[in-house]
Amino acid sequence: MKDFPQQTALRDGTTVEFRPLAREDEKALFRFFSRLPEKERLYLREDVADPDTAKRWCEELDYETVLPIVAMRKKRIFGLASLHRPARGWSMHVGGIRAAVDPSMRRKSMASLLFWELLKEAIERGLEIISIELIDKHDFLAQFFEGLGFRREAEMDGLVVDLKGGKHRLTILTNDTITAWRKLKEYLRERGVGAMGQ
Ligand SMILES: CC(C)(COP(=O)(O)OP(=O)(O)OC[C@H]1O[C@@H](n2cnc3c(N)ncnc32)[C@H](O)[C@@H]1OP(=O)(O)O)[C@@H](O)C(=O)NCCC(=O)NCCS
Repeated sequence: MKDFPQQTALRDGTTVEFRPLAREDEKALFRFFSRLPEKERLYLREDVADPDTAKRWCEELDYETVLPIVAMRKKRIFGLASLHRPARGWSMHVGGIRAAVDPSMRRKSMASLLFWELLKEAIERGLEIISIELIDKHDFLAQFFEGLGFRREAEMDGLVVDLKGGKHRLTILTNDTITAWRKLKEYLRERGVGAMGQ
């Protein structure tokens, strides 16, 4: 947590500030969620069109179990990525990561940079494995993660139900945290963004 707030330049030179989500971000978070296209919101894990979701995220902050990092520019949230870790039990060495980026800021490496920050945090917390869960609608991301050394561990048909009741396949990819961190560092370096001296 010592690295925040942090100024970061995206692939096109746009600067944003990365910092943990705070209690007072509820309205900005709801506005951010509302800018995500409806067809994407349908496939997110939570119903982000419901103002209670942003409220709950901001009221129930506990950075030990869920660390949400936002990308801010001019008081607006343009990206959100979160590191999830069980508070107790036999999966305490496994972290999960999720992300969403404002449509106007995509393909500028924002999600990758947020992911990079969360991987550093995961290593500092002693997490050994990173797990990514993608539904079939997010298949386009699987190749990106495989390029970072992630392996497809499981594919389960019908495990996810979207907000309209449609059933989807869930794919779980995992990697050891340090390999993911090294590979992502290489990926970012090749694109000339972030993570330069780290
Ligand atoms: C998925 C999402 C977070 C990516 O954000 P982003 O900031 O655009 O991602 P990046 O620029 O860091 O892209 C990283 C890599 O992901 C892959 N990728 C991202 N968007 C892609 C797309 N639309 N089509 C194909 N590949 C894509 C590419 O390999 C990309 O690398 P490249 O640009 O060097 O080719 C964003 O599209 C989003 O918010 N989608 C809606 C929510 C969602 O689907 N979340 C995923 C479930 S966790």
